[in-house]
Amino acid sequence: IREDDEQVCRVASEYIAHRIRQFSPTSARPFVLGLPTGSTPLLVYRNLVHMHKRGVLTFQNVVTFNMDEYVGLPPHHEQSYHQFMFDNFFNHIDIRPENIHLPNGNAPDLDAECKAYEEAIMQVGGIELFLGGMGSDGHMAFNEPGSSLRSRTRVKALTTETINANARFFDGDAGKVPYLAVTVGVQTVMDAREVLILVTGAHKSLALMKCVEEGVNHMWTLSCLQLHQHATLIVDEEATLDL
Ligand code: GLP
Repeated sequence: IREDDEQVCRVASEYIAHRIRQFSPTSARPFVLGLPTGSTPLLVYRNLVHMHKRGVLTFQNVVTFNMDEYVGLPPHHEQSYHQFMFDNFFNHIDIRPENIHLPNGNAPDLDAECKAYEEAIMQVGGIELFLGGMGSDGHMAFNEPGSSLRSRTRVKALTTETINANARFFDGDAGKVPYLAVTVGVQTVMDAREVLILVTGAHKSLALMKCVEEGVNHMWTLSCLQLHQHATLIVDEEATLDL
């Protein structure tokens, strides 16, 4: 538990940088990093970019897999997760373009795209560290309440709660928010060797309580991390109001 979102993101970015450095550019294996979008990790991206600009962090040996993407938004739509990641992170670091992976929400065959995404993760030896956030209904990536805890990358219909929460990015108009997304599954996250989740703000306190103090269940999907071997939640004071 840290004081505020700035402290949460500072701890997270320092830890991620430390883990990346353990896989130096000469390491035989790349550092495979799972990444989220959302407003919570923005400061983490800013800190990591800052470290890179200061010359104390390189992404030459980092491979990334993003968690999710809306279905049907053009990749360069300002609210696509693709655009978000390039604007806020990839355009400002030295990652090799071929090491960046984002689900393609415009693939003609979405089921094949989901299968290929899982295979690409397997091919690089699995995800070393999955960074994530949490929706106010306890979802992780776009694994909405009711998601199978064994799910893998697939198309998910977004709940009204998520659509309304994300309307703020679409001129406040819920009608403009895509209602489908491609998302990694709960099991995809569980397979990562380490998971790091950031939760900030009083509006997430109920979900945080449900996920850490109640039982593992598919209605609060982040609760599955109670069964993970190496999962850490970094949260701010406000998010702990219901604990
Ligand atoms: C979206 C994303 C999630 C993210 C959540 C919370 O639903 N698919 O990955 O964790 O939003 O976002 P924020 O950090 O903006 O609260």
